[in-house]
Amino acid sequence: MRSNETLSGKIVAITGGFGSLGMATAQGLAQRGARVALIGRGAAPEASTLPASLENALCVGGVDLVDANAALAAFREVQTTLGAIDALVNTAGAFRWETIAEGDASTWDLMFDLNVKTALNAAKAAMPYLVASGAGRIVNIGAGAGQKAGLGMGAYAASKAGVARLTEALAEELKDKRVTVNAILPSIIDTPQNRTDMPDADFSRWVPAAEIAALIAFLLSAEAQSITGASIPVNGRV
Ligand SMILES: NC(=O)c1ccc[n+]([C@@H]2O[C@H](COP(=O)([O-])OP(=O)(O)OC[C@H]3O[C@@H](n4cnc5c(N)ncnc54)[C@H](OP(=O)(O)O)[C@@H]3O)[C@@H](O)[C@H]2O)c1
Repeated sequence: MRSNETLSGKIVAITGGFGSLGMATAQGLAQRGARVALIGRGAAPEASTLPASLENALCVGGVDLVDANAALAAFREVQTTLGAIDALVNTAGAFRWETIAEGDASTWDLMFDLNVKTALNAAKAAMPYLVASGAGRIVNIGAGAGQKAGLGMGAYAASKAGVARLTEALAEELKDKRVTVNAILPSIIDTPQNRTDMPDADFSRWVPAAEIAALIAFLLSAEAQSITGASIPVNGRV
């Protein structure tokens, strides 16, 4: 084991694994010695298109985590293929901006589905394997907006507040099973999509995805065994 391989031997399932943060997280954890499984809604990427650090990654595509049965099947596949699941990182999620006056209640349902229900269904599906691990870990990606909604952020912020409450309830439920459950609350992550959407912003103020991956790696490590139920803001200079 190289000295930086703090996650050697750990098997980690990452939802939203084909997205920006999911892919950066997969790389950060694999570089630290973890075996990663990427679970995504779209088609699994061709192995030849993945970075070298992910050559041993398992990709499970076509999984809509709003569907509890699809989640169960996906985690069963990861367990069967890799033999165990020690940690779950929920990066699956989505964003919508709309004012209350011009928006629609269906957006609130959508945000709740894509941000809360995906994390809930993944946690329920992974739970038996995480408990069996003996030192299980769940890390959910909430958002700073979940602590205070800005203009046009009502539905998104409410759903991310839901992710934080899910995190706390799960932490209580699983603490005697030696599974820790924490949430990370980013402000704005430096992703290609955000650069396209906000071309005039100062990107250097945003949070590099690799730094969130590093925090996730710490939360998955043995050193973080006493940290559970926490929601950790990661703001950069936003
Ligand atoms: N980007 C930011 O500035 C920022 C700030 C704070 C928090 N966050 C949170 O960080 C997480 C990752 O963000 P990101 O920027 O990496 O977004 P992203 O690139 O859009 O990645 C999110 C991934 O989640 C997947 N997903 C959505 N709904 C799903 C479902 N029902 N079942 C399975 N997978 C589903 C998406 O798949 P599809 O491509 O099929 O939609 C996508 O691959 C999200 O939870 C987001 O809310 C992001």
